[in-house]
Amino acid sequence: MQQPRGEFSGKVGFLMAATGSAVGLGNIWSFPTQAASNGGGAFLLAYLILAFLLAYPALMAELVIGRHARANIVTALDGLGKSPLTRRIGRAVGYYGVLVAALILSFYAIVAGWMLGELGKPLAQQLGLDGLSAWLTGSSISRNLILCALFSLSTIAIIARGVEKGIEVWSTRLMPMLLLILLGLIVYVMRQPGATEGLAVYLIPDFRQLTDPGLLLSAMGQAFFSLSLGVGTMLIYGSYLRKADNLPRMGAAVTLLDGSIAFIAGLLILPAMYVAQAQGIAIYGDNGELLAGPGLIFQVLPALFSTMGSAGAWLAMAFFTLMSIAALTSSISMLEAPVSVAVERTTLTRPRAALLLGGIIFAGSSVLVFYQAQLFEAVIALTTVYSQPLMGIALCVFVGWIMHRDQLLQELASGHEDIEGSLFWKIWPFYVRVICPLLILLALMQSLR
Ligand code: PHE
Repeated sequence: MQQPRGEFSGKVGFLMAATGSAVGLGNIWSFPTQAASNGGGAFLLAYLILAFLLAYPALMAELVIGRHARANIVTALDGLGKSPLTRRIGRAVGYYGVLVAALILSFYAIVAGWMLGELGKPLAQQLGLDGLSAWLTGSSISRNLILCALFSLSTIAIIARGVEKGIEVWSTRLMPMLLLILLGLIVYVMRQPGATEGLAVYLIPDFRQLTDPGLLLSAMGQAFFSLSLGVGTMLIYGSYLRKADNLPRMGAAVTLLDGSIAFIAGLLILPAMYVAQAQGIAIYGDNGELLAGPGLIFQVLPALFSTMGSAGAWLAMAFFTLMSIAALTSSISMLEAPVSVAVERTTLTRPRAALLLGGIIFAGSSVLVFYQAQLFEAVIALTTVYSQPLMGIALCVFVGWIMHRDQLLQELASGHEDIEGSLFWKIWPFYVRVICPLLILLALMQSLR
């Protein structure tokens, strides 16, 4: 029944894939505006501290479990349990994680479809296809469904090809492109009038805003979402990592790269918003707050590009190519979580599992398209604000309380022989066992009061 397991060809392959998963709409879309409307540099600082204090240890938990078990999240957590009860709990937690991955993908693919629409619009305009151009960025059900289907099919096609030929090849192609487009756009936007004002709003810290308790929760949610935690994605990527690679270092590199790209994206988005303002485009919503989320990406930026003549069409294409790439390298990692469970636990082949599960998730997207007003926000909050941190707690508990210390040491020592003398080994095991779950719980409880 079992086909041979995939493996990343080396460190670079893993880094591209894991960073590709981490860097997504969360970095380029939600992080910069959250930072700008919550104290600028102060939010950035809070975010970075939380990322290293909570998200990095949780990421390490996933990578360790994954590489130790060399299996998907369900099989891995099942295998850690020492009694029938803990094994059953392990399987339940694993299935819940991949369910959350599927739910995240169901809304993510819709938003990614909108990106494809914005990408196609300048092309359609150049070709004089005005009807098509209006359809691509209108809010019709047909547009939402068809573009989402297109994006979902691309995701399925990559996952059907497997770890090396699908995930690794595409991440390695797309991630450098993403960085280049990002940097190119920053160079262009920074030379426009108004850009420095945006830069100041982004970078000058306003520490007073950090006292807002809701802020901590959103920074934590953002950190967990951005590092793709709690849904089995990083766990399965860890399971494809070679035994010779140094886990703490790989995890730190992914955390740093993810944070850096979020930071760099802010250098594009905030200046671009203020350039738009200098062109007379409103960047503050009705409530006087900086436009964030959909309003920003789908109103402000396209309006800005349209004031820039033919350069604007190129810029729009570059920007939405950037967003589509970021979304695709993340969505493949989301689909890999349930697909790996199906491939390793049933007799389904990978292409079939990808098609079947991708199809079911697309059906979920369709429900969200039809009931957008009622369901969209709720699904986002349920998955990213609550489920991801809760799953983070569960995985820390598995590593801290159920996995044996020698199992842990043995796994970490492979690829890092002197682990016992390292600072990581002195701090992390206790940290992930006690402090990390408590801190996450505290932040979650704060939101329930
Ligand atoms: N990290 C991705 C982003 O920032 C989202 C993601 C969440 C990817 C969960 C995989 C799993 O957009």
